[in-house]
Amino acid sequence: VDLKENPYEILVGSGILKDLGAVLKPLRLGRDAFIVTNPIIRRYHGRQISAALKAHGFSVSFIEVKSGEKSKSARTAFQVISRVAALSLRKAPFIVAFGGGVVGDLAGFVAAVYKRGIPFVQVPTTLLAQADSAIGGKVAVDLPVGKNLVGAFYQPSLVVSDVNVLSTLDKRQIRNGLAEIVKYGVIADKFLFHYIEMNAAKALSLHPMIMTEIIQSCSRIKARVVAADEKETKGLRTILNFGHTVGHAIEAANQYKNYHHGEAVALGMRAAAGISCRMGMLEDADARRINAVLTALGLPEKIRGIPCAQVLKCMAFDKKFKAGENRFVLATGIGSVRVIERINPRVIRSAVNAVIGRK
Ligand SMILES: NC(=O)c1ccc[n+]([C@@H]2O[C@H](COP(=O)([O-])OP(=O)(O)OC[C@H]3O[C@@H](n4cnc5c(N)ncnc54)[C@H](O)[C@@H]3O)[C@@H](O)[C@H]2O)c1
Ligand SMILES: [Zn+2]
Repeated sequence: VDLKENPYEILVGSGILKDLGAVLKPLRLGRDAFIVTNPIIRRYHGRQISAALKAHGFSVSFIEVKSGEKSKSARTAFQVISRVAALSLRKAPFIVAFGGGVVGDLAGFVAAVYKRGIPFVQVPTTLLAQADSAIGGKVAVDLPVGKNLVGAFYQPSLVVSDVNVLSTLDKRQIRNGLAEIVKYGVIADKFLFHYIEMNAAKALSLHPMIMTEIIQSCSRIKARVVAADEKETKGLRTILNFGHTVGHAIEAANQYKNYHHGEAVALGMRAAAGISCRMGMLEDADARRINAVLTALGLPEKIRGIPCAQVLKCMAFDKKFKAGENRFVLATGIGSVRVIERINPRVIRSAVNAVIGRK
C-alpha cells in the first residue's frame, strides 16, 4: 500500500502463515506479540500462528474476545487494552489482529489508542477481511446507536493473508466474502469479474490457487484506492461503497438479524445495477451478468420480509447522504463506476422494488 508515510506490504498466498515470524522479524515492530483473536479461530489456527512467531524469537500472548459483532465495543476495547497494559510491562509490544473484520477493527483500534499508538499487523482469517477490511487502516468500535462511530485511520505495518485459514469458515461466511469480491470486479476490474464468472464453483470450494488469485486482485484494488485517498478526504474511497447504500439500509431495516453484511450488499448491488440501467448508464446485458454471478455464488436474489418503503426510509438515514441528498455509486460497465447524486427517488424506488421478493 503505497502511502507517503509508512507504506506497507500485503502478502497473499496459500500456506504462508507459517512464515509470519520470518516476515515480521525485519520490520522490527517489537519482540512481544499480543495476538487478539477469538476462541474459534484460536482453536483452529492458534497453534500454527504461535509456532510461527516463537520460531523467530517472539514472545506470544493471546488475548481472546468473544466471537461476533458485539465484541466491537468500547467495553471490549478497554478490556483488551487493560490486558495489554498488564502484560506488557518492560516489554516491546505489538498487536497481531488474528481474525475477521470484527477482530481486525477492534484490535486495530486498540493499537491506535494504546499509548497513542503501537504497531500492529493484520492476519485476516475471513474472506471479507482478506479481500477488504484488513487493508486500509479504518479501525473502529461500535456504539449502541450505530456501527463504527468511534474510530481512527491507523494503518497496519503488514497484512498477511493465508488463504488456507479460510478452510474452516462456514459456507455462509464464504458467500458473504464473495459478495464483496464481486463488488471489486464491478467497480474496478473486468478481468477479476470474468475470472469469478468462470470459477464460481471453485471459489465457493476455496480452491487455493483460485483464492490466491482473487484475494491478490482485490488487495491490489483496495491498496490503490487507499493510497489515492488514505483518509477518505478526496471522495475516491466512495467507489468502495458500490451496493452498500441499499445494502446498509437492508441491514438496518432488518436490525442486522437475517442478513449478513455480504448478503445485504449482494442485494444492494442488484439494486444499484438496476438504478444504473434505469439511468441509461449500464447495459441490461451487464446488469444480467452481475445478477447471474451473484446467483451462481449462492447469494440472495430477493429482499425478503422487508417492505420497499422500509428500505427507502432506512436509506434516508445513511450517513453518506450529504444534507439529505442521495448519492449512489453506479456502474457504467463491468469494471467501471461513477458517483451520482440527486437521483430521482422514483428511479430508486422502482429499482429497489424490482429486488423485493413476494414473501
Ligand atoms: N475496516 C474496514 O475497512 C471494514 C470493511 C468492511 C467491513 N468491516 C467490518 O468487518 C466486520 C465483519 O467482518 P467479518 O465478516 O469478517 O465477520 P467476523 O469478524 O464477525 O467473522 C465472521 C465469523 O467467522 C468466524 N471466523 C473468523 N475466521 C474464521 C476461520 N478462519 N475459521 C472459522 N471461523 C472463523 C468468526 O468467529 C465469526 O463468527 C464488521 O464489523 C464490519 O464493520 C470493516
Ligand atoms: Zn462491505
